[in-house]
Amino acid sequence: MSNNQQTIQWFPGHMTKTKRQIQANLKLVDAVAEIIDARIPVSSRNPDLNKLIQNKPRIILMNKCDMANQTATKMWINHYAKQGITALAVDCKSGRNLNRFPAAAESVLKEKTDRLKAKGMKNPTLRIMIVGIPNVGKSSFINKTAGQNRAKAEDRPGVTRGNQWFTISKTLEMLDTPGVLWPRFDDKTVGEHLAFTGAVNDRVYDNELLAVRLLDFLKDLKPEGFISRFKLENTDLDGIESYELLNLIGKKRGMLVSGGEIDTGRAAIMLLDEFRAAKLGRITLEMPNGDLK
Ligand code: G4P
Repeated sequence: MSNNQQTIQWFPGHMTKTKRQIQANLKLVDAVAEIIDARIPVSSRNPDLNKLIQNKPRIILMNKCDMANQTATKMWINHYAKQGITALAVDCKSGRNLNRFPAAAESVLKEKTDRLKAKGMKNPTLRIMIVGIPNVGKSSFINKTAGQNRAKAEDRPGVTRGNQWFTISKTLEMLDTPGVLWPRFDDKTVGEHLAFTGAVNDRVYDNELLAVRLLDFLKDLKPEGFISRFKLENTDLDGIESYELLNLIGKKRGMLVSGGEIDTGRAAIMLLDEFRAAKLGRITLEMPNGDLK
């Protein structure tokens, strides 16, 4: 699924259709769970979501937290809390922290539940939907959270696909179809960060250029995992050009072409792959102080 979604090229007609679908589903729910990538909390958010969901209660799920810097994730959660938004760090691959989702979502909906109870409703069940840009982990979240309920619901005769609800707690149901949102297009840094993490198809980017941009960031941040993985302890990271650094990394990995030249194309792909697999450590690219490099 994610591979297909990665190749989605958003165009105005497509966006209008998607927007309409989300707006229709929004009418059915009481709250929205927005999934973002904990490594790029700014770039993985949809720029129009606030307008789309208006005043509906929302919870932010900082997914892929296994690949993000833990301190940075905590800082982000505090940052959202100051804005009155509940955020939860989750890892939909291992399922870590997903058991905290029902209670967090219920707390976000408490005001509405209390209102309904005051009106005499005994055990109001409220509904929530998942939204997020492609590749952020929406399907993984739904699969892990809905779990066996999902299979059961699909097996029932007469139940058509789409708009199925899963009971995730006594008072909460979740829509099985996520709202697929588009990322920002108009910001070069956002585009690069999405490409670094593999959220957009990197065929639109030149790998070497992308690797050099990633190295601009890494040589500045100097994460331990990056330094030790490429044995850069004795390299002056402040004094080296990023393209030279890419050459050095390629050399250290023995990536040579005939004539002894460094194969920077291969080195670039290797660097991007290792970053995406968190082999360079848990790295967050964006901090809440707005330091969007
Ligand atoms: P989407 O529906 O929003 O498009 O995203 P999807 O769930 O398909 O997830 C996209 C990719 O991100 C998948 O990897 C998925 O396994 C991975 N992923 C989702 N959540 C997490 C997480 O919390 N941590 C980590 N490390 N990875 C996560 P893939 O390589 O496309 O597929 P596969 O690994 O499942 O084979």
